Amino acid sequence: MDPISYSPRRAAQLLKTEPKELTSLLRKDAYSALDLLALRQKMRRMPPELGPRCQLFLNFKGGTGKTSLSTSYAFRMAEMGYRVLLIDLDSQGHATKCLGLDGENFEKTLLDVLVKRTPISDVIVQSGMPQLDLVPSNLTMSTVDLALMPLAGREFKLRNALREVEGQYDLTVLDAPPSFGLLNLNALMAAADLIVPVLADFLSFHGLKLLFETVQGLEEDLQHHLAHVFIVINAFNATFKLAKEAQEALQQHYGDYLCKTVIRQCTKFAQASSEGRPVFVADPESKGAQDLQSLIDELLGQLLKGGGKGKPQA
Ligand SMILES: Nc1ncnc2c1ncn2[C@@H]1O[C@H](COP(=O)(O)OP(=O)(O)O)[C@@H](O)[C@H]1O
Ligand SMILES: [Mg+2]
Repeated sequence: MDPISYSPRRAAQLLKTEPKELTSLLRKDAYSALDLLALRQKMRRMPPELGPRCQLFLNFKGGTGKTSLSTSYAFRMAEMGYRVLLIDLDSQGHATKCLGLDGENFEKTLLDVLVKRTPISDVIVQSGMPQLDLVPSNLTMSTVDLALMPLAGREFKLRNALREVEGQYDLTVLDAPPSFGLLNLNALMAAADLIVPVLADFLSFHGLKLLFETVQGLEEDLQHHLAHVFIVINAFNATFKLAKEAQEALQQHYGDYLCKTVIRQCTKFAQASSEGRPVFVADPESKGAQDLQSLIDELLGQLLKGGGKGKPQA
């Protein structure tokens, strides 16, 4: 990702202060992300502690916004002062691309970590944004489910691998592929929170049922309990009657998990990913950026309050 430059007005906004106070500490025409971090530390505006915790963006259905939301979410949490590791689990490498990198340029991926015992620190790369690191992905990841199959403890490989960097990150964000296999089982076993982007259409219901059954199986068979499950409606268009009906149905069936925040349809997500930049960089004023910020505020409220959203029921 190209280095980010913030105007004094934008930097002050992010630090929740007045431009005057900002310039009294450091006068510049443009601030770098490192400046912003240093100012945040100086002003004692570091975000509240969250963990460390691992959060998984998953839906077995494709095209629901897992990558668009997880990459911009990870970026924004880093911008807010958290130390974030984003792991691209999808062999399509879209999360890698969304941060302006090409997965094919990297020799090693998470496959080496999960299957060949390569330390995860050997595959972590810098994103260009301070406080945001990445485990890139490329097509070699497509064989990971098969490669994991014969291994002992095959469901726990990711969780164990992450222990090596425990304490180095406040947050690990996983962008999952839309598949149902050992890799995603590893992701679920490593995660404390599950964030499920859904589209407001009736096809989404089938996928959700399967996901909740899987989570329940996980709790029963592998003794792993998720702390939170958040369902978030993405690409919502309130002018479509069917979308509103699907939203109501989601509220009725999954009300305990459904986030109040809805991410509206916003073309800036496509623009941002094609430019290899998070939506907060491509257009910080866009509906997508505003909604994602509201989602972050809602999730932080829940996470800091403690306690789960209840036990997932299939
Ligand atoms: N809120 C949104 N509004 C409009 N388009 C969106 C939104 N979120 C995602 N998209 C678009 O939908 C497509 C699928 O999104 P993506 O994040 O790749 O989904 P997934 O990772 O679940 O497969 C992409 O073209 C993306 O730009
Ligand atoms: Mg994706």
